[in-house]
Amino acid sequence: FNVPVPKNEPVKSYAPNSPERAALKAALVEARSRQIEIPMYIGGEEIMTEDKHAVTPPHDHQYVLGYYSLGDASHVTKAIEAALAARENWANLSWEHRAAIFLKAADLLAGPYRAEINAATMLGQSKNAYQAEIDAACEMIDFLRFNVHYASQIYGEQPQSSEGVWNRLEHRPLEGFVFALTPFNFTAIAGNLPTSAALMGNVCVWKPALTQVYAANVLMKVFKEAGVPDGVINLIYVDGPVAGDVILRHPDFAGIHFTGSTKVFQYIWKTIGDNLSIYKSFPRIVGETGGKDFVVAHSSANAKAVAVGLVRGAFEYQGQKCSAASRAYIPANLWEEVKGYMIADLASMKMGVTEDFSNFINAVIDEKSFDKIAGYIDNAKNDPRVTVIAGGNYDKSTGYFIEPTVLLTTDPMYTTMCEEIFGPVLTIYVYEPEKFEETLELVDKTSPYALTGSIFAQDRYVIEQASKKLVNAAGNFYINDKPTGAVVGQQPFGGARASGTNDKAGSILNLLRWVSPRTIKETF
Ligand code: NAD
Ligand code: ALA
Repeated sequence: FNVPVPKNEPVKSYAPNSPERAALKAALVEARSRQIEIPMYIGGEEIMTEDKHAVTPPHDHQYVLGYYSLGDASHVTKAIEAALAARENWANLSWEHRAAIFLKAADLLAGPYRAEINAATMLGQSKNAYQAEIDAACEMIDFLRFNVHYASQIYGEQPQSSEGVWNRLEHRPLEGFVFALTPFNFTAIAGNLPTSAALMGNVCVWKPALTQVYAANVLMKVFKEAGVPDGVINLIYVDGPVAGDVILRHPDFAGIHFTGSTKVFQYIWKTIGDNLSIYKSFPRIVGETGGKDFVVAHSSANAKAVAVGLVRGAFEYQGQKCSAASRAYIPANLWEEVKGYMIADLASMKMGVTEDFSNFINAVIDEKSFDKIAGYIDNAKNDPRVTVIAGGNYDKSTGYFIEPTVLLTTDPMYTTMCEEIFGPVLTIYVYEPEKFEETLELVDKTSPYALTGSIFAQDRYVIEQASKKLVNAAGNFYINDKPTGAVVGQQPFGGARASGTNDKAGSILNLLRWVSPRTIKETF
């Protein structure tokens, strides 16, 4: 089964009058025309409960798209049992059969389900068409196809044998089940965490963020239609701590594939540590967590490129990317020019509902996030160390809208330079150009995170200097580009320090975490 290097799924433009825009508009209208019941999927069965919760678009929160059934601890237990019941057959299926299923899922998403998964992501998570396309369609398809390619390399690698001795390596799945615990902000991440582990022969309990069930439901339909057998991926909607309580105390818990906040990951790691004596094996712990991603410009940088990188990097998807630029260090000689370009760029950006294809800025995910972000903005407005350069207004009357907000601070350790806000707020510190080296030190020490970061400079020696000085400050480091938008197969993604275990989603490294190899030596 020779799997060539796949090509990245081409991003569709959704230009006016294009067939893809017509299909997407039809899918949006169709989704709004009905209120669906969203079941959990346990052992292939669709499970409804009496505990119904409305799914509403964050940009139109009085409108009900459907209702999901909230489960409880008994559903978590059932999902584990279903996974364990499916394990033997799935683990013993040839890896090529498993790969064929996930390649079919990629084709379904690239074709017949593309409009539906994008529409679900636009409505449920308030992404505009482009942000939905690069996430729910292209990145999800790329994860599925590239993971199959990487798996073929893993399964194809065998140790040396010699005369009279045959050595082989069996890449067995983990003994037990894998817990896929996923965030709201990327449909592709939500889909990748269970499918990458399942590709390597594992069975999974998948618990998405409850603000992402609308698109998770479409993904699950695709996985089923592609042929993922009953019980291999069990999708449950329960509160995080309820799922954690049951799963992290189960003897067959074999690993967690997590993406979400650092705080939740720390809690999970600690709980696993407290329960080590219960488990059959040391669980695999893979977590991609928070970020406080930086942009640092050198005095030799191109001011326009810096401004474009800042605006795109900070405000795409309302700053709700783990990779979003949220703190910037700009030399005084470039500041006025950068500011001018930024303000002009921001003035051209419309804010509004996702279904209007001209809006760049949409709503943030929910009221809790809205209040938290608005709180940071209010504090900044009242702090003498801060000037609001752009935005600063917000309104949650119909949707959770916050203007893209640029803060200028005289204090490089001001709260919004240090803490992950996860919203459309960018804080800028202007430094004296001769203090570039000290500024790099500041960039490195200001935050506990190390996810993404960018250096803008024309001077090659400066680029090397920054690259060396910031070697541990970002798992994904960009030179003269914004710190968002990693592409599967091109920039494997993940960070270290408080940003996670850096197992690089969409890479061999990640897939290797989901196997427990057996070495066999046979002597003739
Ligand atoms: P979150 O940590 O609030 O939730 C993640 C998942 O954990 C959800 O399914 C949630 O229900 C569950 N959860 C919450 N509390 C729990 C508990 N006590 N026990 C068990 N499960 C629990 O994160 P989010 O708000 O969905 O996503 C945003 C966060 O994710 C940000 O911090 C962002 O930086 C991070 N993120 C990181 C990456 C990356 O690759 N590093 C990618 C995307 C998002
Ligand atoms: N892969 C996403 C990005 O790089 C998180 O923005």
